[in-house]
Amino acid sequence: MSSSSTLRIHELTLEERAVYATLKPERLPQHVAIIMDGNGRWAGRRSLKRFLGHQQGARSVQLVTETASRIGLPWLTLYAFSLENSLRRPRAEVSFLMRLLKTYLESNLQRMMDNNIRMRSIGRTYDLPPEVQEKMRWVQETTARNTGTTLTLALNYGGRSELVDAFRGLAREMERKHITPDRITEEDIHRHLYTAHMPDPDLLIRTSGEMRISNYLLWQIAYTEIFVTERLWPDFRGIHLLEAIADFQRRERRYGGLGEDCGEVEEDPERIQIAAS
Ligand code: FPP
Repeated sequence: MSSSSTLRIHELTLEERAVYATLKPERLPQHVAIIMDGNGRWAGRRSLKRFLGHQQGARSVQLVTETASRIGLPWLTLYAFSLENSLRRPRAEVSFLMRLLKTYLESNLQRMMDNNIRMRSIGRTYDLPPEVQEKMRWVQETTARNTGTTLTLALNYGGRSELVDAFRGLAREMERKHITPDRITEEDIHRHLYTAHMPDPDLLIRTSGEMRISNYLLWQIAYTEIFVTERLWPDFRGIHLLEAIADFQRRERRYGGLGEDCGEVEEDPERIQIAAS
């Protein structure tokens, strides 16, 4: 947990508190990333227009972020708008999502301040409508000194384009410093990602049941635990974030190493006969 954030467990709902009580606070993830999916299906199942699903999804964003801030989660990164969304969705839907984002920023700034939330963004945000960029800048600057959860919105974001941008930045640096390719390290690539300032996600949540990564944080999720729920994003609340964290805490993270239940380790590997297959 970030040392400068203050726990506000008393602000959780009774149901949230019951789940929180089952968590090990010392094993809270540092960074949770979410693929918010299912707004359209949520609306479709109610015979509503898709935009109402997005509108309800925006409410989930605020409620989930507030729960994150109450439990002292340092980093929360939400996939709000992908590069593919902007290329493959009807113009009217893209334009609605942009207006929704602008309204969200205007109407939730005070709540972000009250909850000590710092807002940032990643992605090719320079291609967003100027009025959205301006609002983003305003909210980013106003919340910059908050010390609680950092809410990062991935906007006009794509994992592959992030890697292209990182490699371009690294190539420019190498040229300037006369560095040869064989000296490139993983750390050099990390330094040029949009997320260079944050730890990699410990937990990636995807709503609405699809088993896909959808070009999200491709480099960063190398060792991330994945939690997929059938619940649609507009129905996702703080309590579901806590349940996902509880599931995460029951897992054993191995980072390519050995787990507790892995069988006996051979002391002298030279003695092992390899059976012909
Ligand atoms: C997927 O639903 C979700 C998105 C297109 C992005 C998420 C957008 C929001 C939560 C709304 C606004 C966000 C903010 C930050 C104010 P979908 O339309 O792909 O759902 P479907 O797969 O059921 O059609």
